[in-house]
Amino acid sequence: MLTVENLQAAYGKSRILQGVALSVGEGEVVGVLGRNGVGKTTLLMTILGLVKPLAGTIRFRGTDITRLETHAIARRGIGYVPQGRRIFARLTVLENLRAGHVDGDFGGKLREVFERFPRLAERRAQLGRTLSGGEQQMLAIARAEMSEPRLMLMDEPTEGLMPSMVEEMRRAIKAMNERGRAILLVEQNIETALRTCHRIYFMEKGLIAHETATAGLTSQVVHRYLGV
Ligand SMILES: Nc1ncnc2c1ncn2[C@@H]1O[C@H](COP(=O)(O)OP(=O)(O)OP(=O)(O)O)[C@@H](O)[C@H]1O
Ligand SMILES: [Mg+2]
Repeated sequence: MLTVENLQAAYGKSRILQGVALSVGEGEVVGVLGRNGVGKTTLLMTILGLVKPLAGTIRFRGTDITRLETHAIARRGIGYVPQGRRIFARLTVLENLRAGHVDGDFGGKLREVFERFPRLAERRAQLGRTLSGGEQQMLAIARAEMSEPRLMLMDEPTEGLMPSMVEEMRRAIKAMNERGRAILLVEQNIETALRTCHRIYFMEKGLIAHETATAGLTSQVVHRYLGV
């Protein structure tokens, strides 16, 4: 459903993406792993049109979306859970969810999201900044789910969470996939990738350096690209 070819991007003169190629199929959970600073976040932002590519193509469900504006890309069915739980701190849980809603029956979607994230339902009137880190991450996911994307881009959703929340996050990712979402998951937590991904790409210096089915992943590869 998503095909990226030769994707290149830079900030000013500093080249970050040097020709990334990857794909995500219907119903697939695909991981992108790599050390700090290799360009994982830049890759997601370029797919979303938040960073304009210098070269390359991005196709989504048969359409070239490479030069589209971010809102047009989102409308085609790509959701985004940014790194560092970027929720609206001064808005309530409910207002955050409203901001994620694109069209259709808001009340119905809200009920569904609250069923899946009961903790958010209890805290619907609470301000974003007063939520715990794990709750903020849940809210970021729930907000992205309000638009019912076909493909969800997630940037290190388990970063900085305590173990029980990491576990809850893994379950949320799986549940999302079971509901038919394809997911492109940027991670540094190898265990989360092992538990949730069908396939894994390893990124190094702006390029995909290695690709493997999760079942075929070896500890040598993990050591080489993540240093663990
Ligand atoms: N807005 C920006 N302007 C200039 N340089 C940037 C900008 N954003 C990121 N960079 C640089 O681009 C490189 C890649 O950053 P990016 O955030 O894509 O890495 P990452 O793989 O997501 O890292 P991490 O694992 O730490 O999140 C880094 O060297 C970073 O300093
Ligand atoms: Mg990043």
